[in-house]
Amino acid sequence: MKSQFYSRFFIILPWALIVIIMIDMDTKRTSARSSGHFYLSRLGNARRQDRTTRIAYNGTTLPVIYAVTPTYSRPQQKAELTRLANTFRQVPSFHWIVVEDSNVRTELVSRFLARSGLSYTHLHVLTPRRYKRTGMPRATEQRNAALGWLRLHRSPQDPGVVFFADDDNTYSLELFEEITHHTLFTSQCTKAVSGTGQGTFLLNSTMRLTRRVSVWPVGLVGGRRYERPLVDKGRVVSWYTGWRADRPFAIDMAGFCVNLQVVLDNPRALFKRRGSQPGMQESDFLKQITKVEELEPKAENCTRVLVWHTRTEKVNLGNEPKHRQDSIHIEV
Ligand SMILES: *[C@@H]1O[C@H](CO)[C@@H](O)[C@H](O)[C@H]1NC(C)=O
Ligand SMILES: *[C@@H]1O[C@H](CO)[C@@H](O)[C@H](O)[C@H]1NC(C)=O
Ligand SMILES: *[C@@H]1O[C@H](CO)[C@@H](O)[C@H](O)[C@H]1NC(C)=O
Repeated sequence: MKSQFYSRFFIILPWALIVIIMIDMDTKRTSARSSGHFYLSRLGNARRQDRTTRIAYNGTTLPVIYAVTPTYSRPQQKAELTRLANTFRQVPSFHWIVVEDSNVRTELVSRFLARSGLSYTHLHVLTPRRYKRTGMPRATEQRNAALGWLRLHRSPQDPGVVFFADDDNTYSLELFEEITHHTLFTSQCTKAVSGTGQGTFLLNSTMRLTRRVSVWPVGLVGGRRYERPLVDKGRVVSWYTGWRADRPFAIDMAGFCVNLQVVLDNPRALFKRRGSQPGMQESDFLKQITKVEELEPKAENCTRVLVWHTRTEKVNLGNEPKHRQDSIHIEV
């Protein structure tokens, strides 16, 4: 009896050891790949929420891009979030702050984010009912919740930039950085070397390297093909806009980016409800943290459109049955 047990034990033991060694090798390979490669955010890594890609540039850490996306439940919500996630997944050192206009974190958004492969924070805050009227600024509470989270969870030691990425826009990857494999090196480029030295990347002077507040054109907005800051000798001097050109910062929410340090240094800077008119949210916020003369023009002196206010057509659900007819329940 006893000898039978021992013989079985010694047959199983070597196999068990082989399996353990193989699993260990596989995890090591995976972690080397993810630290060294930009396209690390694969589905398998989805559950790690606060993962920050460490890519050394000039021996320091690549600043994290924090994208703040307010969202609310509607038929096309998942489609919009999918379009955004597909873009953001390709951006290294990126953290997505998704803020639902809701009493709870909805299952749809929770599941979506968990499977997105992105580093993210999922927040929620309900817009008070009295503010849910046409003519009222939207997503104020949600953007402020994200600012609050950053002030609570990030410190001056964390290099980063914050921008407001509404879910009805389309973003070019060039907005985040023009990282290329070219060997060209200009004074505007900072040499960025991936963690394991697998390649050399050039990091242009785009959003990620915003010192205080940077700005760029936005397409399909304000009743025009585009709006943009007008730049003279590398400085913003006025605005090309078709709507209320008297605004101090005549810019769309998708047209600027703020260094995280500026957010932390101005703890009272928030999006305002009181006294704020629709379309003045951006100006009211930027007034608290910067001046027009200080703005840093991006997108080649604001001559290129890298973000579009696309908006999705209102969905026609005219043929949707009153009572469920399909045999399965399906999330859309
Ligand atoms: C990084 O390197 C570039 C090019 O050598 C240099 O111009 C820049 O000042 C450096 N930045 C930092 C933060 O050291
Ligand atoms: C922006 O304009 C400034 C001043 O005219 C110029 O020195 C700089 O090279 C321009 N930058 C780009 C990316 O075109
Ligand atoms: C960004 O870098 C590319 C080469 O990698 C260069 O062609 C382009 O002009 C640069 N853009 C700016 C704004 O410096």
